Amino acid sequence: MKRYLLSDVDMGEEEAMAVADVVRGKWLSAGPRTADFEKRFAEEMGAGHAVAVSSCTAAIHLALQAAGVAPGDEVLVPSYTFVASANPILYCGATPVFVEIGGAADLNLDIDGLEAKITPRSKAIVAVHMAGFPADMDRVMALAEKHGLKVVEDACHAIGASYAGRSGGRFGGRKAGTIGDAGCFSFFANKNLVTGEGGMLVTDDEDLATRVRLARSHGMTKSSWDKAAGRAFGYDVASLGFNYRPTELTAALGLVQIGKLAAANARRTELVARYRDRIGDATGLTIPFADRLADSANHIFPIVLDRGIDREAFRAALDERGVQTSVHYPPVHTFSHYRRTLAANPCHLPVTEDIAAREVTLPLHPLLEDSDIDLISDAVRQCLDAARTPAATA
Ligand SMILES: Cc1ncc(COP(=O)(O)O)c(C=O)c1O
Repeated sequence: MKRYLLSDVDMGEEEAMAVADVVRGKWLSAGPRTADFEKRFAEEMGAGHAVAVSSCTAAIHLALQAAGVAPGDEVLVPSYTFVASANPILYCGATPVFVEIGGAADLNLDIDGLEAKITPRSKAIVAVHMAGFPADMDRVMALAEKHGLKVVEDACHAIGASYAGRSGGRFGGRKAGTIGDAGCFSFFANKNLVTGEGGMLVTDDEDLATRVRLARSHGMTKSSWDKAAGRAFGYDVASLGFNYRPTELTAALGLVQIGKLAAANARRTELVARYRDRIGDATGLTIPFADRLADSANHIFPIVLDRGIDREAFRAALDERGVQTSVHYPPVHTFSHYRRTLAANPCHLPVTEDIAAREVTLPLHPLLEDSDIDLISDAVRQCLDAARTPAATA
């Protein structure tokens, strides 16, 4: 039986040769290829500066730190996201304030709910572009300006997405990740651009870029590559930094992968359009963001089941037909670490909790054939019928 993987990677000889080249050169930590990758990435995104780091989590941490987030501050963030959108807030000693999402049709930040949670302690917003669809950045930026907040975009799902402009605002046409004070990207093993581990921070703020560049390598005023290449001898530690350096292997893979990004994203978009055509009218599910398509990197394909469908029975039935599924995401505020951390002020987000209990992610990656989508879609319809609870069928 054919297995339909949730995600897969278009990676082959070109990447293998690029990595072999680095190995032969024997300098594996950040160096000249990393600088080339940063330059190419900044050009591709239309960003002033790009700083390569070891992960998106590191990028978000550096961005928040550069924004001055410190103990006593609050940072607004959706709970409906991967935990790495929120963990860096805790690294800074600040308090995450979890915000609702729109609902089954819009899995991004609910902007009215966001505004209602802004307090004098609010310092920043982490805006997540769920599934590849940019959040309403025009309203996010307007609120940030009104309340003097910094904005960090978690663009892990939205690499290469063009923001279409919403609420009649001024940011239409910009790439996701280039609108806030800093944008953070991941090149983790299942992302649209893959290097295994790795991340990038982009910004138009030269001072922020300089501080982040320093902080990613222990706060040292000279890079390890400058020292290894014999171009630098002494150095100062000008600020408290981290080891968030990427490797030359990451950059070598990234330089090949970035050349494939536009075509891969276009293919993802075609596949999502085909899914919508095949299951958009199925009774028992809602397809989020159904009124949008091209303004997305279409990183994952989430569906939200009706209340009368047993999610685990549905997923098990799909698995029996060879279709791998996943759940994006268990809400961050429901994890035990966060429940303990927020114990004094427990968090309840009914919309997030409801959607998270009904969401299922179907396979989406550029190596899928049209016929795969047709077969998965047929399986989805059959499994919806098999998973209807007695109350729903009565
Ligand atoms: C929405 C979101 N934020 C943050 C991250 C963290 O990225 P990384 O694994 O590169 O730290 C991920 C990656 O899985 C993600 O999906």
